[in-house]
Amino acid sequence: MIRKGILLAGGSGTRLHPITQATSKQLLPVYDKPMVYYPLSTLLQAGIRDVLVISTPQDLPQFQRLFHDGAHLGVRISYAEQPSPDGIAQAFLIGEEWIAGEGCALVLGDNLIHGDHLSSMLCAASARADGATVFAYQVRDPERYGVVSFDEAGNATGIVEKPTRPESPWAVTGLYFYDHRVTSFARRLRPSARGELEITDLNQIYLREGVLKVERLGRGTAWLDAGTPDSLLQAATFVQTIQSRQGNLVGSPEEVAFRMGFIDAAALRARAAMIGKTELGRILHEIGEGHHA
Ligand code: G1P
Repeated sequence: MIRKGILLAGGSGTRLHPITQATSKQLLPVYDKPMVYYPLSTLLQAGIRDVLVISTPQDLPQFQRLFHDGAHLGVRISYAEQPSPDGIAQAFLIGEEWIAGEGCALVLGDNLIHGDHLSSMLCAASARADGATVFAYQVRDPERYGVVSFDEAGNATGIVEKPTRPESPWAVTGLYFYDHRVTSFARRLRPSARGELEITDLNQIYLREGVLKVERLGRGTAWLDAGTPDSLLQAATFVQTIQSRQGNLVGSPEEVAFRMGFIDAAALRARAAMIGKTELGRILHEIGEGHHA
């Protein structure tokens, strides 16, 4: 059972300069919420209640202002600094003491995943005791991502980071579940040609051990990242479209915490009151009143 999750919100956001010159990418708005709300909701949907937020020394205090200790969500949120952007897998070395030899999930602070039955799929991943689980999603531009190839039986055969000639359209999303060996495997990694501890190299270790499960997210699921001006705008439009059409929220950690039973209806209404007279506050209040299924 994986009970812990790291939310990695570091990096310099160079693909969004000058927007990110004075603020963290992961605090930019995606429609009506800070970007980091979406990946936090994903961790909570997996049943994870112990979260480590990792960011740069300059930006970390802003995340603390946003989430405090997590008590309003019925979770525990801790914080750690990543002084320089030395790769995603470095998160497991920074978090080594906090992980304390347990299994650990990781989500990237600019990833948004939305779809039906997602919570049960994520809870199944966090319930696996051995090995690792990653998620693959079909995209038109796989060369921007870690790319996984499959054999005819649908088993993963290889993962390559940003290949010039991708062997498949299946990108590895920024959501990963690892068993208790994650820190010892992360310690084996060496910087890649771009000078980073690559998450793809960590996944390759699990693949070589024969314990990497690659779950394919189907067409009914949306996976978006928000790291460029275009993808940021697309993510915002997606959230606005779903929310205004259905009246349901996308990426609200408050709603997820309530539905997962981490907080009760009174706590949700208190939180809605704090958010105030916004549409988001109004919908959260309604959920707390039992108006939404
Ligand atoms: C990183 C990973 C890549 C993964 C992607 C998902 O890419 O290295 O394997 O597919 O996140 O968002 P980066 O954000 O470093 O370009």
